[in-house]
Amino acid sequence: MSKTVELIYQGTSYPLPLIEGTCGEEAVDISTLRSTTGLITYDPGFVSTGSCQSKITFLDGEKGVLLYRGIPIEQLAEHSNFIETSFLLIYGHLPNREELDYFNYHVTHHSMIHESLKNLYDGFPNNPHPMAVCSAVVGSLATFYEDQLNVQNEREIEITTHRLLAKMPTIAAYSYKKSIGQPFSYPQNALTYTENFLHMMFSNPCEDYEVDPLAAKVLDTLLILHADHEQNCSTSTVRLVGSSGCNLYSSVSAGIYALWGPLHGGANQAVIEMLQSMMEAGGNVMQFVDKAKDPNDPFRLMGFGHRVYKNFDPRCQIIKKLAHEVFDKLGVNEPLLDLAQKLEDIALKDDYFLSKKLYPNVDFYSGLIYKALKIPINMFPVLFAIGRLPGWIAHWTELQGDQDFKIGRPRQIYRGRGKTDYTPLKERT
Ligand code: ACO
Repeated sequence: MSKTVELIYQGTSYPLPLIEGTCGEEAVDISTLRSTTGLITYDPGFVSTGSCQSKITFLDGEKGVLLYRGIPIEQLAEHSNFIETSFLLIYGHLPNREELDYFNYHVTHHSMIHESLKNLYDGFPNNPHPMAVCSAVVGSLATFYEDQLNVQNEREIEITTHRLLAKMPTIAAYSYKKSIGQPFSYPQNALTYTENFLHMMFSNPCEDYEVDPLAAKVLDTLLILHADHEQNCSTSTVRLVGSSGCNLYSSVSAGIYALWGPLHGGANQAVIEMLQSMMEAGGNVMQFVDKAKDPNDPFRLMGFGHRVYKNFDPRCQIIKKLAHEVFDKLGVNEPLLDLAQKLEDIALKDDYFLSKKLYPNVDFYSGLIYKALKIPINMFPVLFAIGRLPGWIAHWTELQGDQDFKIGRPRQIYRGRGKTDYTPLKERT
């Protein structure tokens, strides 16, 4: 017999069905609540609200579990690569050889952007934030493919998926080249996804450039770790925009903006800036920890805390290990890494952080690795966007085929003035 939860309101009992996920989590289905009772629910930040049923990613914040289509993140980080993981997220299974070759071929062979689109970069001021540029350019792709935006046409969605994945590194690298006044480097089809990105970032027409295989491998692993995280702020944005029937380019463009904020994907940039301020303040970590604990001070330790992880973030554990490996292998002496380690040690013993279950998140160490790979700080969130792209595409695509599909439209509790008559200007004080 299916389980229900009983809601008693004004003496009447309303049975509400319980939905059970495949990994055991339970949810109360309130979709008929308003039509049967006239009530709505109130849940700022959607802390207790499930917005959809999804088969893409499972995470257990208490146990530190993260699964893409059932496969643990640790296994994917060790054995997979970003292209294969992208296929897994978008199509629901690991590809066989033929599927992988087809996918890889198309993602490789759509990487150039229209020459006219390059002109868009010239319209920006000299040193724009690359997240703003990337979002604008991704959104503009819709203008180049207007005849292939049908959200119900599987083939058009497939082409759009290939185009987005293929062009994103080009768009991102061009935004960096624009900011330093260098010519754009065209993509090279002989290179892998991450090699190609590094080539477009760091090569120039005046000298030979060879991609460091370690840098490409590490970057690929970081992209896998960022590839999806179920209904986070940017993914929910992509779904909400997509729920209006809006095309994938525009939905992803909105997702990039949502990711930019310092409470979300912008945190990797904010962590480095925070560590640099600590260094400038003489490395006095305690001063910053005290500030973060002060209820009258809005300062937060960037890279600490997570809406869902309340024990440890499994991605952070992999990234921390990776950071130490990268620094050892590249022979980089990074004082900020020591400072980050010191900060983590102090915070993890502090009652404030323990009692609020605040642990380092994915952004705490990733910025240090990007820095070691000589990626400029304002490009860190862009790297996050490149990584998160397959997750956004997977969720947008899942939404289009969802049997419960509805335009996203939350309600509100109105707290403003009641009905008030218009006062003519001359009578106003
Ligand atoms: N430093 C100090 N105190 C913190 C921190 C922090 N980093 N994070 C949360 N707290 C405190 C809050 O002040 C709050 O205290 P209170 O109960 O006394 O009011 C309590 O912990 C709970 O925090 P909330 O903001 O209510 O938790 P929420 O789940 O809404 O926020 C968030 C999660 C946004 C990630 C938050 O922890 C934060 O701002 N962290 C710093 C920014 C960051 O690293 N963002 C990246 C997140 S990962 C990602 O998006 C990829």
